Amino acid sequence: MDHQDLSSLKCVHCGSVFNISRSNYVCPKCGGLFEVVHRTEEYSLDTDSRGVWKYRPLIHPSIPQEMIVTRGEGNTQIYKSERVSQWSGIKSLWMKQEGENPTGSFKDRGMTVAISEAKRLGRKSTICASTGNTSASAASYSAIADMESYVLIPSGNISESKMAQAVSYGANIIDVPGDFDAAMSYISNLAEKNQKYYIMNSVNPWRLEGQKTITFEIVEKLGDCDFISLPAGNLGNTSAAGKALKELKNWGIISHVPRIVSVQAEGASPFYNLWSGRDNHLVPVKAKTIASAIRIGNPVNWEKALISIKYTDGIVTKVSDDEIMDAKRVIDRSGIGCEPASAASVAGIRKLVEEGTIDRTDRIACVLTGHILKDLASMPVSNRHLSVGSFIREIGS
Ligand code: F0G
Repeated sequence: MDHQDLSSLKCVHCGSVFNISRSNYVCPKCGGLFEVVHRTEEYSLDTDSRGVWKYRPLIHPSIPQEMIVTRGEGNTQIYKSERVSQWSGIKSLWMKQEGENPTGSFKDRGMTVAISEAKRLGRKSTICASTGNTSASAASYSAIADMESYVLIPSGNISESKMAQAVSYGANIIDVPGDFDAAMSYISNLAEKNQKYYIMNSVNPWRLEGQKTITFEIVEKLGDCDFISLPAGNLGNTSAAGKALKELKNWGIISHVPRIVSVQAEGASPFYNLWSGRDNHLVPVKAKTIASAIRIGNPVNWEKALISIKYTDGIVTKVSDDEIMDAKRVIDRSGIGCEPASAASVAGIRKLVEEGTIDRTDRIACVLTGHILKDLASMPVSNRHLSVGSFIREIGS
């Protein structure tokens, strides 16, 4: 059997199947997105590895060990906080802190798989559009793999700390006038025409294979909880979580499937409009939110994400910037901390509890997608910031 036959690329739209060495990102027959399908019939782990690559048989079974480019991503902590539980109304609420990944966001889980595949294919250059975290991660992994990286950034629309990472890791920065959607549409057009640049965005199905491991780790730790809540932008995570849950169910690892909650920012909620029946096809919007990471109006993965929501009987909701920042303040104050976009996962749960959609006794995992230092523009000033003089007066000595 050809080694590569362990996995293939399948179009989520028309079902056509291709060899994985075909390095297109969309189906040549209908333009639908590819997903990676594996012949793996049972759940098995690579017990010599930790983190993402522990799940190698389930994410990229045929990649040779020497092609793997890794910084030890995954295996992040899962926290409980009385403060966050009280605020959200859910006693059994856990937060999976993806900011603990090497470049400070969940993107590293997908990036290690995508860059390893780029190496296997013999590619020399990578490219991505980004609201910041993808570019930081892609630049880091490309540098490690000794590949040239190009990142398309919506001009003036990404946080300085994410930009600093991409620049320091040596990426070529391309300023795109306009927003993330403009940068992403440039990448989508380039994808089919130019094979020189390997695409690191989540249209690349290998990214999602790596991101499945967030869900694998949640289930390993908590068993089959009731809900998994995710902030939703380009909808890669929502897609990956649904795929992971379907696979776990098929392998008999879970008997009951946790429901996915996909949380959009109110000013960037085209997926919510679609799910709630307002639109019957994704209608792009002009995105506007304080949460720059999810300032996305035309998410490329919406078709896959809808499959995930339907499969898990999931919920799509939207929260205002005020709700996002309220959640962030509580998560930060709990000592765990996250960037604004990440806090949407907890804000969405509080809203659904208040609406009565979620029961207070449900067991919920919220994914905090990025580190507290990722987006400093939205940092609160200080709860208490005293001069030495007033401190001395206060303590009376
Ligand atoms: N949270 C953070 C911190 C992100 O950086 C992103 C996406 C998301 C949530 C949304 O995840 O796209 O899977 O729905 N950031 C991308 C980027 C778009 O370019 O860094 P999604």
